[in-house]
Amino acid sequence: MLEAELQNPFSRLLTARLMPDGQTGEIVGYLCLWIVFEELRLMNLAVEAGHRRRGIATALVLHALSLARDRGAERAVLEVRASNNAAQRLYEGLGFRQVALRARYYSNPIEDAVLMQRESVAF
Ligand SMILES: CC(C)(COP(=O)(O)OP(=O)(O)OC[C@H]1O[C@@H](n2cnc3c(N)ncnc32)[C@H](O)[C@@H]1OP(=O)(O)O)[C@@H](O)C(=O)NCCC(=O)NCCS
Repeated sequence: MLEAELQNPFSRLLTARLMPDGQTGEIVGYLCLWIVFEELRLMNLAVEAGHRRRGIATALVLHALSLARDRGAERAVLEVRASNNAAQRLYEGLGFRQVALRARYYSNPIEDAVLMQRESVAF
């Protein structure tokens, strides 16, 4: 999925970097997003395992919402694996709500997707 996003001209990549000495630092998190007309789509988000629970994913999503707002988008959407409780808690904490289930949406392994939506990109 990440390789496809990196090659997609519509996709935008945000990175979170450690900058201990003011240099361009190691990437510890990323978020791929699309802004399609009035909709922000969060496509792919991950934070390196040793750097989780420090607010990095939250910062990436808030920055994406800010970009989308500046582009005139209205709402934000994403899909997440039904078993991914950590990500669902993250998104719920940022104002996303579950709006639908997409059966067998994912492969490797096959799993349902939860569609989550934030009615507004404002915060
Ligand atoms: C999900 C993921 C991106 C979260 O990144 P993160 O930088 O650790 O998230 P944050 O520190 O911003 O967490 C914000 C809140 O989300 C929730 N949260 C994050 N990880 C959680 C976990 N493992 N269990 C429960 N809640 C969690 C918490 O409410 C957390 O707030 P708190 O730390 O004050 O309790 C990260 O765990 C990850 O990369 N997972 C693997 C890839 C993945 O699942 N991506 C999402 C695909 S949709």
